[in-house]
Amino acid sequence: MADQDLLSAESHFAFGKNWLDYAQKIDEPKIGQAVSDLQRLSGRDRFDGLSFLDIGSGSGLHALAAIRMGASRVVGVDIDPDSVEASRATLAKFAPAADARFERVSIFEMSSESFGGFDLVYSWGVLHHTGDMYRALTAAADLVQPDGLLMIALYKETPFCGMWRVIKRWYSSASPQAQLRARRVRTGLQRLAFRFKGRDFNAYVRNYAENNRGMNYANDIHDWMGGYPYQSISPADCRAFFGRLGFRAEREFVRTPGRYLPGLLGSGCDEYAFTRSDAR
Ligand SMILES: C[S@@+](CC[C@H](N)C(=O)[O-])C[C@H]1O[C@@H](n2cnc3c(N)ncnc32)[C@H](O)[C@@H]1O
Repeated sequence: MADQDLLSAESHFAFGKNWLDYAQKIDEPKIGQAVSDLQRLSGRDRFDGLSFLDIGSGSGLHALAAIRMGASRVVGVDIDPDSVEASRATLAKFAPAADARFERVSIFEMSSESFGGFDLVYSWGVLHHTGDMYRALTAAADLVQPDGLLMIALYKETPFCGMWRVIKRWYSSASPQAQLRARRVRTGLQRLAFRFKGRDFNAYVRNYAENNRGMNYANDIHDWMGGYPYQSISPADCRAFFGRLGFRAEREFVRTPGRYLPGLLGSGCDEYAFTRSDAR
């Protein structure tokens, strides 16, 4: 992708419209689930006195969760103006007095020199959508203070990533009607896969927020189908990459690939928490 495209929201799927829609569904139970999830990934109950950066803040739900955990300063950035608006609206509604600000900035415009370093840097499902994942990972790493924690989620590499890249590219510029048909096909296939495995698909959708960071099935499917640009990485490559940058692996939640055709219906995100252990 050309450098000017990396900075333009127009070359990306319109993530923000989906987040504006989802932001209206945020309620206390979803906030509670987002807090639990942040506790699981960070390995901490509280963020008291710590600064928190959310790269690709989307709906703002996890920036809000960081505030609820006691973060003293929260900054959120997103390339999509609708995501920035959604994040601001979420914080205005649930934590109006918090020290939280959101800006329309791309990760490629950020550095520790211009933004300072943060104790906690969170970027869930974002850096693989930037058009240059490795450059984005390096830029995110630069924003972590020494001994600070980087929490990221990235799509797992599977044999079907090439196929999904083509589908996502098509979907991100398809008409709303064509997108709806594509979502129905994807959901129908998932329903069949659940039946094949003897699992209850309706219960999965009903309990989706509980098991998926407070998110919503319908919004997540639209986000998955359209999430373009799209890259992916294996856990081994991710660990090796951050090891070279001077980060130590703290914990990870990586998915076990399905036995049959792993990645056919989507790859899912692997989650990692790394501590910055190099001296600056
Ligand atoms: C899949 S959404 C994830 C949102 C949120 N982190 C969450 O977990 O719900 C990806 C977000 O990353 C944003 N994004 C994509 N490229 C970006 C970039 N270069 N810099 C900052 N944000 C970016 C998108 O606009 C979108 O809001």
